[in-house]
Amino acid sequence: MTLRTLNSLGDLRGKKVLVRCDLNVPLDGAHITDDGRIRASLPTISRLRDAGARVIIISHLGRPEGTPEDRFSLAPAATRLGELLGESVVLAADTVGESARAATACMGDGDVVMLENVRFNAGETAKGQAEREVFAAELAALGDAFVSDGFGVVHRKQASVYELARDLPSAAGLLIEKELSVLERLTSSPDRPYTVVLGGSKVSDKLGVISHLLPRVDTILIGGGMLYTFLAAQGYSVGSSLLEVDQIETCRSYLAEAKELGVAIVLPEDIVVASRFSADADFVVVPADRIEETPFGHTGIGLDIGPAAAETFTAHIAASKTVFWNGPAGVFEMPAFANGTLRIATALANMSGFSVVGGGDSAAAVRTLGFADSDFGHIATGGGASLEFLEGKKLPGLEALGWQ
Ligand code: 3PG
Repeated sequence: MTLRTLNSLGDLRGKKVLVRCDLNVPLDGAHITDDGRIRASLPTISRLRDAGARVIIISHLGRPEGTPEDRFSLAPAATRLGELLGESVVLAADTVGESARAATACMGDGDVVMLENVRFNAGETAKGQAEREVFAAELAALGDAFVSDGFGVVHRKQASVYELARDLPSAAGLLIEKELSVLERLTSSPDRPYTVVLGGSKVSDKLGVISHLLPRVDTILIGGGMLYTFLAAQGYSVGSSLLEVDQIETCRSYLAEAKELGVAIVLPEDIVVASRFSADADFVVVPADRIEETPFGHTGIGLDIGPAAAETFTAHIAASKTVFWNGPAGVFEMPAFANGTLRIATALANMSGFSVVGGGDSAAAVRTLGFADSDFGHIATGGGASLEFLEGKKLPGLEALGWQ
């Protein structure tokens, strides 16, 4: 079966349409540091409003555990969405309670109401399906149709992602359609050479994707906190850098498999080693097999790939026709350790082929570093969801929309 799209919902004039977005934006207090996910939600919201629908937005923010918490309120997202739409967006004080019912009862065609953080209700993320179904039915009672457009959560079997799609006539929004077309291009017919750049802190989060991609790509470049487990797999000492000892053996087997398949797994040849995890720490650049041979000894901690590695990564990216990048190369939030990530972002922005920045931290990184969305072929709005798709997993939020 193929994905049900907006046209399948027919005439939506005067209908209340619940729209699941992923407005889980990074916040510094009440200030949104990257509004990319809100902007990415606009095409669907605008399309529905133009069609005369009454739009009721559902989203989560952070991971509250089933009860309201001020710091996880969607208020900043509602304000920003209102600014982008050019008119104010009413934020209900709850998800399915009196405030939500009152706010959605008196809507006119084209109006937009946002419900408070859907994870303020325990039914959203409940392990038990019955509990999720009860909550989904309460959400469904607020509308006539459901549009799923929160690409960043389609890998979650949660009430507003999965069960709700079965309770009402439902379809995928334009963002999900767009994200899927990019992921299909990456999986079915990528132009070659195809390079995947992986970073981020935890190697265990990326093992599934490495295993699935090994037979499908030409080159994998590895940076970020995860690289130290690969260096350990090569027998190097990594000082106090991030290390997942229980994954060393798996990394070793991937290095061997890559060799057999003729796939290049490229590890950095040099590392920026700091005296401690701090923006003002002392640091030196050393070859990757000398991490403990600095003035900091075994307390030294690798916080970025070195300049020679950045050069090598740049050359691989420039020679590629398709590049997917997920995860920063270093602690890019600290200027002294941002160079590797900056160089990778620059190489993707300059390449002539198809470049995809895969979600979450990488998306935040490129925007924090001053790049424009138009510098890349695509910036995905979901890191976890993109990776699970590339791992070949079935994603509940897509299955509920007819995708197989
Ligand atoms: C994300 O930030 O990747 C999505 O919003 C999903 O959030 P979650 O990992 O808390 O489910």
